[in-house]
Amino acid sequence: MKNFAGSWEPGNDRGNRNSKLKNVILIGFMGSGKSSVGYRLSYALKRSLCDTDSLIEKREGRKISQIFAEEGEQYFRDLETATLKQMLEKREYKRCILSLGGGTPLREENRKLLKQLGTVFYLRVTPEMVWERLKGDTTRPLLQTEDPQRTIRELLEKRDPIYMEAADIVVECSGKEQDEIVEFIRKKTVEK
Ligand code: S3P
Repeated sequence: MKNFAGSWEPGNDRGNRNSKLKNVILIGFMGSGKSSVGYRLSYALKRSLCDTDSLIEKREGRKISQIFAEEGEQYFRDLETATLKQMLEKREYKRCILSLGGGTPLREENRKLLKQLGTVFYLRVTPEMVWERLKGDTTRPLLQTEDPQRTIRELLEKRDPIYMEAADIVVECSGKEQDEIVEFIRKKTVEK
């Protein structure tokens, strides 16, 4: 149990290829709490946690900021798509908690893959919440701008409709404790 949330256990299901893999998928802007909610959910639901950013870093042997700097954003986006495809094609991940990078749902192709991988929960936050959590952060290449607060506002405004389109269930996080968010997703998952 101790290492449960930090690891993932690839399955070997070769069953019906058309059925959803019943993963719980967390999407949302940088700083929306996907990783920490995912971590807590993995305990609450007794499911393995997979963080796609960590998976990419592990496979590439370098940090995301390094991948952006050395290869550019498109290369990273291709890695995100390849990761989702692999999860689906090999049916490696089922009944897991998948925490995605904030930009993963932006590609239409990725949104289609997500629909097949499981139920998509959008952790919806305000720009103020993101700023509060991420001011001073140096690990997100897209926020290393002259005015990160403005970048957050602009990016979030552009992305919100896309996240909404990708989501099966929208989780309004403003004014909620993380406990409530975890419990909301847990309930929705066990009710299904
Ligand atoms: C990104 C979000 C990051 C990471 C990369 C790009 C984005 O993940 O994938 O820096 O485009 O929103 P988090 O959402 O976990 O910060």
